[in-house]
Amino acid sequence: MIQVAGIDELRHHVATARNAGQTVALVPTMGCLHRGHRSLFAVARRQSDFVVVSIFVNPLQFGPTEDFDRYPRTPEDDAAICRKEGVALLFSPEPETMYAPDHSVVVEETSLSRGLCGAHRSGHFRGVTTVVAKLFNIVQPDIAVFGQKDAQQTAIIRRMVRDLNIPVRIVAAPTIRESDGLALSSRNRLLDHDTRRRATVIHHSLCAALESYRRGERDAGRIRRDIVSRIEEQPSFSVEYAAAIDAGTLEPVSRLRSNVLLAVAVRTGNVRLIDNVSIA
Ligand code: PAF
Repeated sequence: MIQVAGIDELRHHVATARNAGQTVALVPTMGCLHRGHRSLFAVARRQSDFVVVSIFVNPLQFGPTEDFDRYPRTPEDDAAICRKEGVALLFSPEPETMYAPDHSVVVEETSLSRGLCGAHRSGHFRGVTTVVAKLFNIVQPDIAVFGQKDAQQTAIIRRMVRDLNIPVRIVAAPTIRESDGLALSSRNRLLDHDTRRRATVIHHSLCAALESYRRGERDAGRIRRDIVSRIEEQPSFSVEYAAAIDAGTLEPVSRLRSNVLLAVAVRTGNVRLIDNVSIA
C-alpha cells in the first residue's frame, strides 16, 4: 500500500494507476477506522481497480464547541486496516496541506443541509461539502463511497455533485451494526461501558417504529413521539431530533410510506449519535 501526505505525490500515483487503465475509487474518512469503514472499502474494491482512502479530521466541519480535539485518532491501526483491506493508496494530509492559512472559498449546499443535523450543527455541512469537493478535485475518482448511516451527508454530496457537475458517481453503502444493533461509529468508543450498553435503545426504537408501520401505523407524528419517549426513558439520553423524511428530498412527511427514512440524533453526555432506518 502506498501512503502519502502530499497532493502532488497523490496525483502522481493516481495518474500512474489511470495510465495503466485502472479505475479509481475514493473513500473519504476521518480515520478511527472500524468495520463500517471496512465495508465501504469492500464496496469500493468491488466497483473499481484502485482504491484511495483519505484520512483527514476536517477542522472545518466541527463547531467551536464540538469534539474536534477529542475526536479519536488511531493512525497506526488505521494504516494496518487499510493494508489488510486491499486499499491501494492511503492519503493522510496535514491541515496545512488542505487549507492555506488565508483560505477563503467554501462550498455550501443551501437546501438539504438546513434541517436535521444541519439545524443543530451550524456550518457542519459547509465544512463537509468544502472538504469533499477538495478531495474530489485532488483525487478525481470515478466513484466515491459514503455510508448510509450519514444519510443527510450522502444526500447533500449527491446534490453537490449534481449541481456542480462533478464527474464522480456517488455510491451509498448500507449501515453496519454491532450484534446488538448499535450503528458502528467512531464516536461509540467515547461511550462508557454502561452508556454503550444502553445505546442499543436508539436502534431498538427505530425497529419498534418499523414494526408499528408493519402493523398499519401511518401517522408520522405518533411514530416520532414513540421513538423519542422510548429513547428518553434511558437516563442521560436526550433526542435532538426524531424525523420521518422523504429519502430523496429529506422533506418531513406526515404519513409514513415507502421511501421514507426514520432518522434520529441522540445526545448522551457529550457524545452525539445518529442513526436511521428506511421504510422499504
Ligand atoms: O463522514 C465523514 O467521516 C466525514 O464527514 C467526511 C465525509 C470524511 C468528510 O470529512
